[in-house]
Amino acid sequence: MSKKFRVLASVALAASLAATSACSSTRDAEESTSGSSGSGGGLVGIAMPTRSLERWNNDGAHLDDLLKKAGYTTSLQFADNKVDQQITQIENMINQNAKVLVVASIDGTALSPVLEKAANAKIKVIAYDRLINGTPNVDYYATFDNYLVGKLQGEFIEEKLGLKDGKGPFNLEPFAGSSDDNNAKFFFNGAWDVLKPYVESGKLVIPSGKKIAGEEDWKTVSITGWKSETAQAEMDNRLNSFYTGGKKVNVVLSPNDSLALGIAQSLDSKGYKPGADYPILTGQDADLANVKNIQADKQSMTVWKDTRTLGDQVAKMIDAIVKGTTVEVNDEKTYNNGNKVVPSYLLPPVVVVKDDIKAKLVDSGFYTADKLGL
Ligand code: GAL
Repeated sequence: MSKKFRVLASVALAASLAATSACSSTRDAEESTSGSSGSGGGLVGIAMPTRSLERWNNDGAHLDDLLKKAGYTTSLQFADNKVDQQITQIENMINQNAKVLVVASIDGTALSPVLEKAANAKIKVIAYDRLINGTPNVDYYATFDNYLVGKLQGEFIEEKLGLKDGKGPFNLEPFAGSSDDNNAKFFFNGAWDVLKPYVESGKLVIPSGKKIAGEEDWKTVSITGWKSETAQAEMDNRLNSFYTGGKKVNVVLSPNDSLALGIAQSLDSKGYKPGADYPILTGQDADLANVKNIQADKQSMTVWKDTRTLGDQVAKMIDAIVKGTTVEVNDEKTYNNGNKVVPSYLLPPVVVVKDDIKAKLVDSGFYTADKLGL
């Protein structure tokens, strides 16, 4: 989608949303208010997990901006990856009579009590990017196709190593995301369903001995809180313990960019050289530092999820909820949260490699050429 079209699309979206709601004013950085009470949109609470992971800043700002332009009152909150803080923030939004809550949960299993309060107050809840589990009180889910994210990473490795042509064996080190994040298992399973046959056939070997057999075994390689520094320390440990005597790692399955950044720092510290013995390294989110690492051959790819399109879709869902019209969904079977199948809207993730950074990330306006030195 070209930059010009993107801008026109969001202006048109804001205008169509605006048609349904009231006027505005702002109060402070985190919380902006708009709309005269009693007419149109009302308050929308936006609960983001943290500011320390790049994408959530973009997600929060884009959705907040769209809704403000449409005349909604917004409360945009970040919870520093602290579950209790997020619960308190959601409680405040409920007490402020939010009409709709948009929640990117830190721990999708920890919100049942507070969402029961939301339901009692007749407040609709949209799970944003990450599913909320174990409660009937989540009305919709909007995200990217999380299983496909992992599948794209697995297929990238399969293709790059020539595994379909019987190439190998290669040394693989798998990583998974935070075990409290419902997405992490979808990312991992998407990739592992592609790679597992090659692990079983011996074409992919895991020198660190990480065994991924059972349904929940992905948690043995999960990195809590998606922290770069934790991934770096784990990679240091594996390289120190299992890669001696000249043994090299050939491929690292990293579920996202924050982990890939830490893993790259570990590889650098062990003397791996881009263009020489640097392993294939996957990622997700197209974080700025990682796109620069891709330009420097220190990461092989990232799965880009244009978070603006997620914000646009969620803004449309909010508008439909407020207007009482049909909320658009395109998946009513995949995401069972343990209590019910949550009606969902899935967006397409896209693979980005060095050669298509400009075409995909710059021409679409996600980054300026200047930011990437292009
Ligand atoms: C996931 C999200 C990814 C990544 C990760 C860490 O839930 O889908 O895009 O950002 O969290 O924030």
